[in-house]
Amino acid sequence: MRVILLGAPGAGKGTQAQFICQRFDIPQISTGDMLRAAVKAGTELGKQVKEVMDSGGLVSDDLIIGLIKERIAQDDCAKGFLFDGFPRTIPQAEALVEAGIEIDNVLEIAVEDEEIVARMSGRRVHPGSGRVYHVQHNPPKVAGKDDVTGEDLIQREDDQEATVRKRLEVYHTQTKPLVDFYQKLSAAQGKPNYSMVEGVGSVEQITAKVIAALG
Ligand code: AP5
Ligand code: ZN
Repeated sequence: MRVILLGAPGAGKGTQAQFICQRFDIPQISTGDMLRAAVKAGTELGKQVKEVMDSGGLVSDDLIIGLIKERIAQDDCAKGFLFDGFPRTIPQAEALVEAGIEIDNVLEIAVEDEEIVARMSGRRVHPGSGRVYHVQHNPPKVAGKDDVTGEDLIQREDDQEATVRKRLEVYHTQTKPLVDFYQKLSAAQGKPNYSMVEGVGSVEQITAKVIAALG
């Protein structure tokens, strides 16, 4: 199965991706996690993207499309994959169509902006795996430590309120039009299947809705 998870920054894409990927045994492809790993490792790519990521802007389409094509050529993607945070612009979605990469399901997780701003200040992440926690809503077993490895959790550079608001603005102008893009594609080709779930409630409640929507 090939899935695209759409949703604003902080809508819970990374949180739900973990459950979906386990359930359907497909790899999670998060362009944000891939870019953050490059920044952390200090690679050329990382140096190139750090500033724009910290400011809440988008990395160039060409760079992202190259990264994705390289990633889905790997063996583990033969059985399918889940895109988390990609595509994020119309040109990125068009690149998939042009490359003949068909998607089965586009799932949007919808959350209001003010709820998102409130959520982001409590987010903590495990940089090694991309596992996501929240100090109140989804706390780790031991405060500040990853459940699986016991390693330290960190706060993301781009989770300051002003940057979150900039990311939301970028989402509304550049990424939200993808909903219309995929609804039209679905009407024309019968694929992908588009569905939307409200992303407010407990993590478990949303997982149940997400799994139901994916069949
Ligand atoms: P990326 O890493 O993709 O960030 P994002 O889309 O802004 O999304 P987030 O990771 O912030 O949120 P999420 O939806 O995964 O929510 P999460 O599950 O963590 O991108 C980062 C940057 O990289 C971009 O700004 C851009 O610069 C660049 N980039 C990446 N991809 C790109 C692309 N394709 N093109 C161009 N540039 C690109 O949850 C958030 C918090 O809420 C957590 O603390 C979580 O525990 C908590 N939470 C989750 N569910 C619930 C719930 N039901 N109730 C309460 N709290 C909850
Ligand atoms: Zn994420």
